[in-house]
Amino acid sequence: MRILVTGGAGFIGSEYVRMLLGVPGGNAAGVPALEPSGVTVLDALTYSGNRANLAPVAGDSRLRFVHGDICDAALVDEVLPGHDVIVHFAAESHVDRSIAGAAPFVTTNVLGTQTLLDAALRHGVGRFVHVSTDEVYGSIDTGSWTETWPLAPNSPYSASKAGSDLLALAYHRTHGMDVVVTRCSNNYGPYQFPEKVIPLFVTNLLDGGTVPLYGDGGNVRDWLHVHDHCRGIALVQQRGRAGEVYNIGGGTELTNKELTGRLLESCGAGWERVVPVADRKGHDRRYSLDITKINEELGYVPSIDLEHGLAATVRWYRENRQWWEPLKAGGKAAVVA
Ligand SMILES: NC(=O)c1ccc[n+]([C@@H]2O[C@H](COP(=O)([O-])OP(=O)(O)OC[C@H]3O[C@@H](n4cnc5c(N)ncnc54)[C@H](O)[C@@H]3O)[C@@H](O)[C@H]2O)c1
Repeated sequence: MRILVTGGAGFIGSEYVRMLLGVPGGNAAGVPALEPSGVTVLDALTYSGNRANLAPVAGDSRLRFVHGDICDAALVDEVLPGHDVIVHFAAESHVDRSIAGAAPFVTTNVLGTQTLLDAALRHGVGRFVHVSTDEVYGSIDTGSWTETWPLAPNSPYSASKAGSDLLALAYHRTHGMDVVVTRCSNNYGPYQFPEKVIPLFVTNLLDGGTVPLYGDGGNVRDWLHVHDHCRGIALVQQRGRAGEVYNIGGGTELTNKELTGRLLESCGAGWERVVPVADRKGHDRRYSLDITKINEELGYVPSIDLEHGLAATVRWYRENRQWWEPLKAGGKAAVVA
């Protein structure tokens, strides 16, 4: 089986590639081996794409890296033939950047996805796995979203992801394409670009700096280790039913204030290091996913609890300064800070 992974140099996509190629520690416990004969990464290497994320598998002869844009139809046409599956991660992924400027979000997330879907249709690719997000559902005060919940995105990021998510499903209904969609909660883990809250806070704290906490800190997120997200995607890739959506969540809901408390403790810092900042515009109050469907159909259960996962993640950033220092020094991570 040959797999095309778009956005495979990003945070989650690179975890998926490391998992597919079975590097120690990257193997998907509880997931039958996918054992691809080839993995092609198509990635534009935007500010969040980083070849260093693939360093652990760089020597694997099954890996091919193509530096390019998913919006480039001619390139996609050239790269795609011979692949059996596309796992589509490539996206503009940071809400704050979408508030500052939505254009790249619409271009990559909507037009880029449509470009890939059209190419997959033309070339008769077997399966298209579209990696979406729980943010397409909007915000929920109580209870949890099932997959049949109407989409009501609030940020330009989530609106562009909802557009791509619905396009992917439309290609199944209209053209009979073998499309599956995953909607996942907030991920954390190694190799996450240090603009997102966990690596931003951890790296600021490790550097002796302060951390910015939005509004009253009461916004609730469901945290999932990136490895568990990738295990869920692997299950959906293998056994998900065509045309279906699968929520992937961790069942670990925390307010941003609670998360901050845990990160301060892990880094041996106190609350004096926290600087309250004006709330994010249109900030979703709470996300919560019902994962009954993927659990009952595919046997998915998260394997890494938050306490151990966060401790391991903080340790990774502590031990891998050479990975994140150049990213922060280059000013690329300054959006939230
Ligand atoms: N991070 C999360 O918590 C989370 C949760 C649920 C879903 N998701 C989804 O998972 C996917 C990956 O997210 P991430 O956190 O790894 O993001 P990321 O920003 O770390 O990685 C995105 C990758 O896509 C590449 N890319 C961007 N535009 C491109 C283009 N036009 N052509 C080719 N490559 C391009 C970047 O270079 C980068 O390598 C996204 O689709 C995101 O919406 C993320």
